[in-house]
Amino acid sequence: MKEGIPSLEEGSPLLRMINWTFSRFTDAPPLKTVQLLERFFSDLEIEEFQRFKIPKRKSEWLASRLLVKQLVQKIIATDMLFPLKAITFHKESSGVPFVMVDGLGRVGWLSISHSHDGVLAAFTQDRKVHFGADLEFIESRSLDLFADYFTPSEIAWIASSQMDKKDFHANLVWSAKEAYLKAIEKGLQMDTRKIEIHPSGESSFSKGWNRIGFMVEGFNSQSWQILYSRHQGFVMTICLPENQSSHLVEIEALPDLDY
Ligand SMILES: CC(C)(COP(=O)(O)OP(=O)(O)OC[C@H]1O[C@@H](n2cnc3c(N)ncnc32)[C@H](O)[C@@H]1OP(=O)(O)O)[C@@H](O)C(=O)NCCC(=O)NCCS
Repeated sequence: MKEGIPSLEEGSPLLRMINWTFSRFTDAPPLKTVQLLERFFSDLEIEEFQRFKIPKRKSEWLASRLLVKQLVQKIIATDMLFPLKAITFHKESSGVPFVMVDGLGRVGWLSISHSHDGVLAAFTQDRKVHFGADLEFIESRSLDLFADYFTPSEIAWIASSQMDKKDFHANLVWSAKEAYLKAIEKGLQMDTRKIEIHPSGESSFSKGWNRIGFMVEGFNSQSWQILYSRHQGFVMTICLPENQSSHLVEIEALPDLDY
């Protein structure tokens, strides 16, 4: 084991923690972007960045990768800090993201989400704990989204919600479906109407997080739970194994990068 990596025993509570962090980004000016890339990213990552043409996508890519690198650096470091450049972001052909650290190989399990100017990143050191995280800015959603992606019972719940809760509920339903789809690593390859969110299953989980019920046609959804939280005008959801006693731990205020 490399010096500086905590030697966590199987089943250690530290290992099982799902650490999450949320950040809002502003578009970095071009010069700063170049400096950030050179200082903190591998050649392969820079190549990927350069393939993007849309400024919004460039910004969210940069913000999410920096957030993940800082989060992972903080979680895996003890007395030794891995440089951000040594912590690299990769994706499976399915789109599932993962992290590699120079000298250690693939570490933990990661899920990320972007919405508006917000980024959510969640990471656990336990590679066996697969989960999905999603972030949605709470805003009005079009009726087309409902018709194409929601079930009749979800649409009825949103329609019967109090006026000031409608947008929250619509985004919660959407986010919960996406978190589940990321946890099972399928993404939007599965019809989102096969997942039905049941608000009646709501209960409190831990600080700031509630559980919401759901069923999945043709799948054993019993083995998963979906947790949600409202945060700075966004709804965040995390879908994790039902039998997982992992704690959700917020990692606040990662430091500004000195470059
Ligand atoms: C996963 C998915 C539901 C996310 O939806 P979204 O609301 O548009 O985006 P979010 O910001 O919430 O999440 C995007 C992140 O989810 C991750 N992701 C993508 N596909 C994923 C999957 N199958 N499982 C888990 N996570 C996935 C990625 O890290 C992505 O961020 P990045 O593109 O910056 O790396 C959707 O993008 C999707 O279905 N993608 C499938 C892609 C696909 O089928 N690829 C096959 C190869 S062609």
